[in-house]
Amino acid sequence: MTSAPQKTQAIDIDFREMSGAWQAPAPDALPELPLLQVQNLGFGYPVPAPWPWQTATQRTVLHDVSFTLQMGRSIGIVGASGAGKSTLARLLMGLLSPSRGGVRLLGRPPLHTLHATALRQARCHMQMVFQDPYSSLNPRQRIAQIVTEPLRGLGQPISRPEQRAQAAQVLAQVGLPASALDQYPHQFSGGQRQRIAIARALITKPLLVVADEPVSALDVSVQAQVLNLLLDVQQQHGLGYVLISHDLAVVQHLCDEVLVLDQGQVVERGTPQALFSNPQHPCTRALLDAVPQMDPGRARRQQTLRQRMAAAVGENPPLP
Ligand SMILES: Nc1ncnc2c1ncn2[C@@H]1O[C@H](COP(=O)(O)OP(=O)(O)O)[C@@H](O)[C@H]1O
Ligand SMILES: [Mg+2]
Repeated sequence: MTSAPQKTQAIDIDFREMSGAWQAPAPDALPELPLLQVQNLGFGYPVPAPWPWQTATQRTVLHDVSFTLQMGRSIGIVGASGAGKSTLARLLMGLLSPSRGGVRLLGRPPLHTLHATALRQARCHMQMVFQDPYSSLNPRQRIAQIVTEPLRGLGQPISRPEQRAQAAQVLAQVGLPASALDQYPHQFSGGQRQRIAIARALITKPLLVVADEPVSALDVSVQAQVLNLLLDVQQQHGLGYVLISHDLAVVQHLCDEVLVLDQGQVVERGTPQALFSNPQHPCTRALLDAVPQMDPGRARRQQTLRQRMAAAVGENPPLP
């Protein structure tokens, strides 16, 4: 993607009053600031000691991951299952504390050093979209309650009618009617549920959206619609995306830069075009081989072969 400079001009943020340790930068300063700085990030899950007299250890699943995301740009994280992508997503959101390095939002102190109130304030600007729209939406709640849930986490009282009006507005942005507000998740298809999940992420007007495998649970025909929606939203609001996927084809159209993660390490990085045309690392090549390729020439060759075989035995050619 090369049209990012225009995206940043479209920033439209309802800047909230911030207090405490996390001071929001002035809106004028925003385009100059790096949205997200990930510096030498390392993380290990604790492994309990088998015996009480032994000390607990750690299983390191992320090693020294660094990247910077500018406002309005998109970065893709790709890797096979178990590479550490979801762990990285949780670290970016400040849901886990790194064992090494840190994550800075808008140049402020690392998220894991903030106290709870400041972290909550920082989180106004970042939201997450999860993989499975079936399990990420509470089946017992109406869409109005689901979509407005992040507003209640902001710690600012917003009246019910105002919350509902904001919910209707974000639903319209993702192409759903306001009548959806009174319905339940089971009344929607997978693609519509993921639209609802995206609406929930947009309601706080975040600057950053971390989407962990946002289309993996959807039919291929619906995947493109949801990816196009993410692209439209970005062009409208100048959001930054961290788009996580095991599928290089998913990040190809949306991301300015792609990082290939293998066993917790960044093994290759570059533009999607460079990775597709000239992959260097075996892991990138393996991911590329997994992308289904359209090869009409191959189908034609197979057909000709069948016809020649049929002609050789004097029969009608079988249907392709
Ligand atoms: N809560 C957890 N406790 C211990 N190990 C975990 C936990 N979550 C993930 N892991 C391990 O961390 C590694 C990376 O997992 P994950 O970040 O989910 O990878 P990905 O999203 O790329 O599939 C895997 O080996 C996984 O088994
Ligand atoms: Mg995952």
